Amino acid sequence: MKVSIIGAGYVGVITGIGFAYMGHEVLVMDHDENKICNLKKGQVPFFENGAEDAIREQCFENRLNFTSNIKELIDYAELIFICVGTPSMPDGSADLSAVESIARSIAEYAMSYKCLVEKSTVPAGTFKWIQRTLRLYSKSSLECDVASNPEFLKEGSALEDFLNPDRIVIGTNTDRARDLLLELYRNVECPKITSDIETAELIKHASNSFLAMKISYANMIADLCELSISVRQSR
Ligand SMILES: NC(=O)c1ccc[n+]([C@@H]2O[C@H](COP(=O)([O-])OP(=O)(O)OC[C@H]3O[C@@H](n4cnc5c(N)ncnc54)[C@H](O)[C@@H]3O)[C@@H](O)[C@H]2O)c1
Repeated sequence: MKVSIIGAGYVGVITGIGFAYMGHEVLVMDHDENKICNLKKGQVPFFENGAEDAIREQCFENRLNFTSNIKELIDYAELIFICVGTPSMPDGSADLSAVESIARSIAEYAMSYKCLVEKSTVPAGTFKWIQRTLRLYSKSSLECDVASNPEFLKEGSALEDFLNPDRIVIGTNTDRARDLLLELYRNVECPKITSDIETAELIKHASNSFLAMKISYANMIADLCELSISVRQSR
């Protein structure tokens, strides 16, 4: 299958390499031309075990390509993964301006059916806002689905995690989008959890906050242990 990815940061590049390894043809786009130029030379803007060798190998096989042209990216595939940053604003809310800019570009340039897949971490319900943006700016004939396919990779073993996930979450509201994503992951052996889009968006936050809670719990136990050692030593 053909896959378009917007955002050549950590998640976009790892996702691109991963899909290329699965045998798909992948085009990754970023508005940072310098980053794209370096990626074309096989230079990765972060450290991740095996990523540079993997990029060179997949580019050589012509399964992985890079561009800074959004129109080329939109024309390339039905499946378009959003992997742009969604940093926190001073008030704690997520900055979704990059996501909005992508939705507007798709509304403007798409000439045929597209399935826009959220991989970026976004607040639950963001898909409704993307759908509204698409409706507002697109030609009335544009057919477009939105889906959520959150990422759970760990930095340091991201490529390994992508190729051997413990589960894949696919949130869609149409059969067409669900079937496209199930086909994309057909050869990956793991449980595939299908849900509506909002549930998939929420699963990502439930998973992130559960991880944060486990780390806080381990830190509190460590503090308690250290306190009890120092009390014993002071006796
Ligand atoms: N890093 C992780 O471990 C991780 C894991 C799971 C999910 N996420 C989520 O995935 C998303 C991406 O994270 P990341 O770490 O890859 O971010 P990143 O900042 O490394 O990369 C984002 C990329 O998007 C590009 N970009 C921004 N706006 C763009 C636009 N309008 N058009 C084209 N390109 C644009 C930027 O130039 C940058 O290269 C975030 O929502 C993050 O929360 C991250």
